[in-house]
Amino acid sequence: MTANHRTLWMLKDGIAFLNHGSFGAVPRCVFDEQNDWRRRIEAEPVEILGRRCRDLLAAAKIPVGQLLRMRPDDFGFVTNATEAINAVFRCLKINSGDELLTTTHVYNAIRQTMRFTAERASATYREIDIRTPIYSGQQIMDAILANLSDRTRLLVIDHVTSPTALVFPVEQIVAACGSRGIDVLIDGAHAPGMLDLSVTAIHAAYYTGNLHKWACAPKGSAFLWVRPDRQADIHPNIISHHLGQGFGREFDWQGTRDISAFLATPCALDFMGDLGWSEVRRQNHDLAVWAHQMLFEKWNVPPLSPLDGSLLGSMATAQLPAPLCDMAEDAAQRFQQFLYDEHQIEVPLIRWQERWHIRVSCQVYNGPEDYLRLAGAIDGSISSAF
Ligand SMILES: Cc1ncc(COP(=O)(O)O)c(C=O)c1O
Repeated sequence: MTANHRTLWMLKDGIAFLNHGSFGAVPRCVFDEQNDWRRRIEAEPVEILGRRCRDLLAAAKIPVGQLLRMRPDDFGFVTNATEAINAVFRCLKINSGDELLTTTHVYNAIRQTMRFTAERASATYREIDIRTPIYSGQQIMDAILANLSDRTRLLVIDHVTSPTALVFPVEQIVAACGSRGIDVLIDGAHAPGMLDLSVTAIHAAYYTGNLHKWACAPKGSAFLWVRPDRQADIHPNIISHHLGQGFGREFDWQGTRDISAFLATPCALDFMGDLGWSEVRRQNHDLAVWAHQMLFEKWNVPPLSPLDGSLLGSMATAQLPAPLCDMAEDAAQRFQQFLYDEHQIEVPLIRWQERWHIRVSCQVYNGPEDYLRLAGAIDGSISSAF
């Protein structure tokens, strides 16, 4: 799949792009489709943004709902997962003394959202420290369940964690919390396109996912799904004309905005669907498992999760070998830039459990040679000062 597929994306020649996870990357045809929508909007601004906006968004929601198994009425388009989570937190009635709970694997922007919300409500914010190595989903479940309390107002769980690239057993966590009357918000920023996902089956109170990461939609395409029994209380961050007219209607219109990313999302889903979703997922997962094992064997570092890949999706995080794992913050920043400038490798460096790690992403345009180049560059950097 790999060599040919690279030409279907717009990535700069020569770069080993191992960071699909941060912002995604669009195929050329999706970029063209979005531009086409932008041209159409400028040709007929009122026809498209005024009279036809609702119908166009409704049509764009159909394939998203089919892929991720959501009823179109139960989700709204938003620009990104951060926006979706902010919307939920702004609408929740949080009392002083309540606890907002998540884990140490939380994405930092969401940590800040939760802290901010807790502070304003005189509530508490707490992270469950789930240390790696993690051997099973059960270990994650046990750590979370042991930390729930009568004060837990909302639990935020990542479906695929950002620093550690682990797939959490969200369905089981939601079921266990449900039996204790605790609502769960799932941060599925990485899940759409990476996992075979049925949002409705997870049955969380709230689920957000980015379409601009692993579904390869244009940047600024994401959704917030809310369980029907919670929809009346949830509104978008932008309160506009349709307040009180229903969840879907409120999310459809949030003032004048560029809706081209949403309208081009079906094109991305068609493109990836033509490659074959299950084939894409299987290939990306297999490559992540192989890269994880290969880096582990070369560097002889402690793995964060089982080497059989049972807790991985299409990304893997590995600790850097000594002495790189102990770099100071500014040295780590310089090292990342060095990998890009000198070796043409784009890869994120991540601080986890007091050590520096790298996280590799695997998308259909990647091949084993990209990860071997990374391993070679790291080996060379240990012997020479970079
Ligand atoms: C787990 C997780 N949540 C939320 C986000 C935020 O995504 P966005 O910047 O699109 O809102 C990210 C981004 O990488 C993420 O990894």
